[in-house]
Amino acid sequence: MRRLSYALVLSGLVTGMVMASALAHAQVGEPKNVQVLKGKSTKEIREYMKTFTAGLGVKCDFCHNLKDYASDEKPTKLTGREFLKLMNTINQQVAAINRTAMKKQKVDQVTCYTCHHGQKEIVSKAPVSKDDE
Ligand code: HEC
Ligand code: HEC
Repeated sequence: MRRLSYALVLSGLVTGMVMASALAHAQVGEPKNVQVLKGKSTKEIREYMKTFTAGLGVKCDFCHNLKDYASDEKPTKLTGREFLKLMNTINQQVAAINRTAMKKQKVDQVTCYTCHHGQKEIVSKAPVSKDDE
């Protein structure tokens, strides 16, 4: 009897440890589906993603299935990834301009907020130039 309960406690302990490590992996383990943010941990990505939510004025579920952040099932996530690439390309150019043209006053790196201003939809207010009329 004593031996049986010892075995039960032990097996419960092992199950608990396996579950805890699976949970830790899901939350802080290596990301499973990154094409742009390579080399960042899941924790770092979660922190970085706050620039997306603040930039667009949305919550995580605008782009993610909250049960599976690695999934690409939402079209907004795919669009977001393309804008992330666009932003990185712009920022390479910004860095180059800061190295060459802007000796004193530096140009800020572009973020989602630069264009979105906390809105997911952007209303273009660009004036029509005289030449186009
Ligand atoms: C505008 C869309 C968008 C929003 C909003 C957003 N994300 Fe993401 N998220 C992405 C994209 C795009 C990727 C993939 C980046 C890549 O491919 O490098 C990603 C990747 C991730 C990953 C890595 C998943 C994996 O294992 O591959 C995590 C974790 C994550 N996001 C968490 C969050 C959290 C937490 C929030 C809310 C604070 C959030 N995201 C808000 C677009 C978004
Ligand atoms: C150079 C300007 C610019 C930058 C920087 C930018 N966006 Fe956008 N984004 C736009 C424009 C313009 C649209 C189209 C807006 C519309 O349809 O109202 C758009 C649309 C989107 C959409 C589609 C919204 C929807 O309702 O379907 C997503 C998602 C998005 N951007 C994510 C991002 C994320 C994430 C970042 C930062 C990594 C980002 N954008 C940075 C200009 C930009």
